[in-house]
Amino acid sequence: MLDKHHSIVAFQVIFLNPKKIKKMNQALNNLYDLNGKTAIVTGGAMGIGGGIAKRLAEAGASIFIADIVNESEAKITLDEIREKGGKVTYLQVDLTQMESIDNVIEKTLVAYGDIDILVNNAGIFKYLPVTYLTEELWDKTINLNLKALTFLTKAVVNIMISKKHGGRIINISSVDSLKPSGYLAIYDASKGGVRMVTRSFAKEVGKYGITVNDIAPGGINTPGASKIMGDNVTPEEINAMKAGMTQFINTLPLQRMGEPEDIANAALFLASSASAYMTGSTMLVDGGLMLM
Ligand SMILES: NC(=O)c1ccc[n+]([C@@H]2O[C@H](COP(=O)([O-])OP(=O)(O)OC[C@H]3O[C@@H](n4cnc5c(N)ncnc54)[C@H](O)[C@@H]3O)[C@@H](O)[C@H]2O)c1
Repeated sequence: MLDKHHSIVAFQVIFLNPKKIKKMNQALNNLYDLNGKTAIVTGGAMGIGGGIAKRLAEAGASIFIADIVNESEAKITLDEIREKGGKVTYLQVDLTQMESIDNVIEKTLVAYGDIDILVNNAGIFKYLPVTYLTEELWDKTINLNLKALTFLTKAVVNIMISKKHGGRIINISSVDSLKPSGYLAIYDASKGGVRMVTRSFAKEVGKYGITVNDIAPGGINTPGASKIMGDNVTPEEINAMKAGMTQFINTLPLQRMGEPEDIANAALFLASSASAYMTGSTMLVDGGLMLM
């Protein structure tokens, strides 16, 4: 004899129309379908950017990666995209140099003819106590994390407006744009800026069908995160910073570091029509860090 719950399940198994299920799946697939779209991912050779490039390619987008490292260092990401049948073009470029912006735009248009999605992901971060901060670190960090993001957005928005098809700008900020971890003062300033230009641009370009949002990751396992300790810091200070990090991971509600895929899934949502009515928002993907 089946109880009430099991008879409802049995009823659904027998009577759910496979055609209806197929239609439902199709509608969901369409929501996240990026076929025919072109996405620029800065810093897409590895880490979070690599994860985003792979996920957007899986959804059908043609990917343009702009990154400072040699193409051979991006091999794992590029191979994975191509093995799955995805389309990807690579440009080695230092985004702290202003002429790189035009270069990225020009080469993307040569490769694909259009730009629908921009993921401003490239960023640097170094743990350094305040007494170790240098002007050089300020210039490098602000020029990449904030200036390159701002002017690449300007250039891409110009294309999107002239082509009249709208688009998606996705900026990778950080939980540090909301709450400082310590030892990251210059980085925090850059990411606070990212969060604010995101909101400012969003206000201006909504009328062109362009959405601008940012994702604020918590601690994510990436090559950059594994090299976070700044140069010339004493062993005592390194130990203090490491102890702080261990404590931080142990107290996270989800009790683990995030993976690039965790951020890539959020980026897919923001690139897709599932997020059509979102702009000027910060998506926290932080394992609960901001609750602490
Ligand atoms: N990993 C984390 O815990 C974490 C947390 C919050 C936010 N973020 C942000 O996520 C983004 C990606 O971080 P990640 O951890 O993947 O870093 P990562 O160092 O692992 O990867 C960064 C990528 O950017 C590229 N890059 C660096 N300088 C460049 C330049 N001048 N021009 C072009 N490309 C350059 C690198 O070659 C690399 O491929 C950054 O903006 C970072 O601030 C990371």
